[in-house]
Amino acid sequence: MIRSAVRGVGSSLPRRIMTNKEFEKLVDTSDEWIVQRTGIRQRHIAAEDETTASLGEAAARAALADAGLTPDDIDLIVLATSTPNNTFPATAVEIQERLGMRHGFAFDMQAVCTGFVYAITTADHYLRGGTAKRALVIGSETFSRILDWSDRTTCVLFGDGAGAIVLEAADGTGSAAERGIIASALRSDGSQKDKLYVDGGPSTTGTVGHLRMQGREVFKHAVGMITDVVENVLEQAKVTPEDIDWFVPHQANKRIIDASARKLGFADEKVVITVDLHGNTSAASVPLALDHAVKQGKIKPGDLVMLEAMGGGFTWGATLIRW
Ligand code: UT7
Repeated sequence: MIRSAVRGVGSSLPRRIMTNKEFEKLVDTSDEWIVQRTGIRQRHIAAEDETTASLGEAAARAALADAGLTPDDIDLIVLATSTPNNTFPATAVEIQERLGMRHGFAFDMQAVCTGFVYAITTADHYLRGGTAKRALVIGSETFSRILDWSDRTTCVLFGDGAGAIVLEAADGTGSAAERGIIASALRSDGSQKDKLYVDGGPSTTGTVGHLRMQGREVFKHAVGMITDVVENVLEQAKVTPEDIDWFVPHQANKRIIDASARKLGFADEKVVITVDLHGNTSAASVPLALDHAVKQGKIKPGDLVMLEAMGGGFTWGATLIRW
């Protein structure tokens, strides 16, 4: 049977770092409030020449270099984003063009903060089904472009960036001891769409719109949804929380991460935290955290890595990988 194995990982962040202190001049907030309530200390903000496509391309090139591959080796690009360069075509095809690829196929995936987990699961199916051999799975966002910079309840929370992995179809027997994606679980519930959304779009207002969130309401649901899908994946893979080497959660709020890890039984030292450095980068947060942990020498080949995310929709999901 075919298993989708990770060959490389990379990321890219905008040049400009914006600290919490800078927000004190824009809205009625404080570094203390932001750190205490979210764990965020800084985020990167894209300049005019930095876009979802350019950041995604840079992350893709870094992942390819890490894999020792070139764009010629790739036949599928799945880009998770809610902040595409244009309404259409898909920003994935712009990245394909930037990489000089004239072969294969590329498309965008829209599941807001859960986008990367949806994208990796989708790419896994294409690889296991034999439609593609090697996939670039990218999460790239420029949420700074859809923020209401006068709304203190949202503008302090988000940042820009991109992360990517290269997946390769490898032969295996299906054992959880083998490298690759072992199991995934995806969920959505559209009845909760008003809790976190953008108040514009091509078919309604004809504008891009701004992000709106009932933060407390999202917070209330987050831990339950996260633990639900992670437990589902643990069960599918027949492994226990003690077997997990690294828990790589969506980076929205340190309090949500801590509460989820505690409920799931993951020890503090197994939890990868980057929300302090990047803020919430939506679909880019999980691959950014993965690259950070690999570069820090934490995640190593053979480790069992649990990814999870939840976000607008609501959408939520988890994926287990033998790195
Ligand atoms: O990635 C997709 C998923 N998104 C999330 O996971 C986000 C989930 N939600 C959260 O992370 C948290 O709910 C927030 C960080 C958004 C807010 O934290 P909270 O502890 O739930 O605060 P709250 O919304 O209950 O607000 C508490 C107080 C309010 O004042 P009053 O009504 O108690 O007087 C807010 O107006 O904090 C106030 N507040 C702020 N104060 C200073 C809200 N934003 C700010 C701010 N600075 N930036």
